[in-house]
Amino acid sequence: MFENSRLLIDSSNPPEPGQVIWRSPSNLAIIKYWGKYGRQLPRNPSLSLTLASSCTDTSLEYAFKEEPDNQIDLDFFFHGEENDAFRAKTLAFLESLTPHFPFLRQLQLTIQTGNSFPHSTGIASSASSMSSLALCLCSLEDALFGTLQDGADFDRKASYIARLGSGSACRSIFPHAAVWGATPAVPGSSDEFAVPAAGLLHPAFKDFHDDILIVSTEEKAVSSRAGHALMEGNPYAEPRYAQAKARLSSLVQALQEGDLETFGKIAEDEALALHALMMCSNPSYLLMQPNTIELLHKIRAYRAETKHPVYFSLDAGPNIHLLYPGELVSDIRGWIEEDLKEHCVDGWFIHDWVGEGPEEL
Ligand code: DP6
Repeated sequence: MFENSRLLIDSSNPPEPGQVIWRSPSNLAIIKYWGKYGRQLPRNPSLSLTLASSCTDTSLEYAFKEEPDNQIDLDFFFHGEENDAFRAKTLAFLESLTPHFPFLRQLQLTIQTGNSFPHSTGIASSASSMSSLALCLCSLEDALFGTLQDGADFDRKASYIARLGSGSACRSIFPHAAVWGATPAVPGSSDEFAVPAAGLLHPAFKDFHDDILIVSTEEKAVSSRAGHALMEGNPYAEPRYAQAKARLSSLVQALQEGDLETFGKIAEDEALALHALMMCSNPSYLLMQPNTIELLHKIRAYRAETKHPVYFSLDAGPNIHLLYPGELVSDIRGWIEEDLKEHCVDGWFIHDWVGEGPEEL
């Protein structure tokens, strides 16, 4: 899909050197993608909220190579410094994309990238970084060939390419919310790319907040990639995929109706199911820390006491996403300062919220 061998620069009419820049956000899955097959295809559909403040800026500079050769020439800078490990990974990814972007071998490329949140913090950056790179590549294609003028075509290809880099990244392309994976609950949904889901959101969810409580900044003992692979031998895998499919349908209904309680129940059940799957893998593993558990109990106790619709989610790590409607911002921030911060590493948390999606700079 989206392969096109005709996307080659005519050397008798080379383009001027140029640059494209995108800022792309992270996203938080409410229905989790956990388990994949083939080339980054999901075992179940997932649904995420697009975030606003946790994002990656990527700039891609290009110049036509006077001396043709058959390789991709790439300089790579992360936060202004050359980074060999990231360069090697990115180069391998770009090589894998030459059927989609054959012109990459005809260019001298420089990528400069950086995150709005500090690196090695235990916060996943693959969704924001891979989506910003995919958007740059699609803008580059469009600048050279004018082939992605239609906004929906552009987004679809960007989402597809982002998925090949990191599954969850394909959902970051769209404002407010996105669905990835074919499901009867969302017409037009696909395993190959994510589709916009902002239209499913009752206004109550467009002003949702997601404060990330940083419980640990240590590198995860088991990467997401390895975690997905362990789903293949997990005895609960099949029931899990069926559960995710059913929950996605219930979640779509709750999102449409503005049903915060059902939304919150599904968000928490999904977070705990994800970690339960890790505990049932072979070998089993545990990414929650004592402070994670402490915070989960505090969140449920606070909800019971105040009746505020405040819920948690977890990614594949110990950090907590605190989800609540915008009208509660001052109450919740006061509570974080008073009662939750002490469980965060160096008292650290990040304010985030549902955002407008990527932006070309
Ligand atoms: C728990 O997208 O990071 O965050 O496709 O191997 O790059 P790869 O995995 P990744 O997995 C994300 C898993 C998750 C749930 C989710 O975002 O849906």
